[in-house]
Amino acid sequence: MKGKILVTGGAGYIGSHTCVELINAGYEPIIIDNFSNSEKFVLDKIKQITGNEITTYNIDCCNLELLINSLLAEKIIGCIHFAAYKAVGESSKLPLKYYHNNIASTVAILSFLEKISCPNFVFSSSCTVYGQPDILPVTEKSPIKLAESPYGRTKQVCEDIIHDTVKANKTLKAFALRYFNPIGAHPSALIGELPLGTPNNLVPYITQTAIGKREQLTVFGNDYDTPDGTCIRDYIHVVDLAKAHVKAMEELLRTKEPIFDCINLGTGKGNSVLEVIETFERVNDIKLNYKIGPRREGDVEKVYADTSYALNKLNWKTELSLEAALQDAWKWESSLN
Ligand code: UD1
Repeated sequence: MKGKILVTGGAGYIGSHTCVELINAGYEPIIIDNFSNSEKFVLDKIKQITGNEITTYNIDCCNLELLINSLLAEKIIGCIHFAAYKAVGESSKLPLKYYHNNIASTVAILSFLEKISCPNFVFSSSCTVYGQPDILPVTEKSPIKLAESPYGRTKQVCEDIIHDTVKANKTLKAFALRYFNPIGAHPSALIGELPLGTPNNLVPYITQTAIGKREQLTVFGNDYDTPDGTCIRDYIHVVDLAKAHVKAMEELLRTKEPIFDCINLGTGKGNSVLEVIETFERVNDIKLNYKIGPRREGDVEKVYADTSYALNKLNWKTELSLEAALQDAWKWESSLN
């Protein structure tokens, strides 16, 4: 065993896949989760996949005192901080809920790591920090735009908080990983995304429509300045994304100097909404009921990653295709039925 890695939000969508990859790489994940947007059965599924039972603390990450009291004895060598609210639309209606949870938890976790002298921190950020970039593909040097939502602003603010902490505390080493659009599920179909209520994101909406939980998918706008008129995103298989977290942690463990760096995690390829639908239909041999509707407020027209920095810094690139992600997403949805 190479050491214990604290994974906040470890029962969630990306967190659970990352726990599997940490175990595959020889680490021992320790989960903190308050199960506000995740299910306890996920822990059994991780055990089914890996054979390992994960030590889990049902704790709110904002509670520094509880973090210290519960976790002081664990010999933690690094932390991956996923726990956060992530519904873009809800964040505009309930900004304080987002500012409180996402920012206070990051401050508490950083304080906890300082207390236990643990210097290795990986933060779950988002390409939303770029807004609509002027130049594509978007590199880490692209300007940070005014956030479109309180959710997006929490990611920007947390990146700044981490950077300030690295500057002040000369031992902390941190990466902010800026995800593009994570989709898919573990190929075992034992873990995947579990949206609360009506999904906001494209792929869960597609799979729920295909299975009959939703009547029809609406494509939000086909009058954008793109080849088929629909928005373009960089869809990345969640297993590839999970593996990047292991690489990022290993790079921090190797690094001796304090560091703060932001790294794009994407495939480097943009696909339109219609391409995603067509691919889903083709690889799963399903006809999807969809219609073209109006644009969704706040959507950017196109965004996809320049992935060269991730390759240089982490020796990581994606291995799984859009086809595989959409097959795995469908296997997962079918297994839930
Ligand atoms: C959004 C956020 C991102 C966040 C992610 C996960 C922005 C700009 N991006 O990504 O920061 O990390 O959610 O919660 O705020 N679409 C439809 N019909 C649907 C659903 C989506 O056509 O029913 C289209 C959207 O218009 C978009 C694409 O599908 O063009 C992807 O949408 P979605 O999955 O919601 O992700 P983003 O908006 O890119």
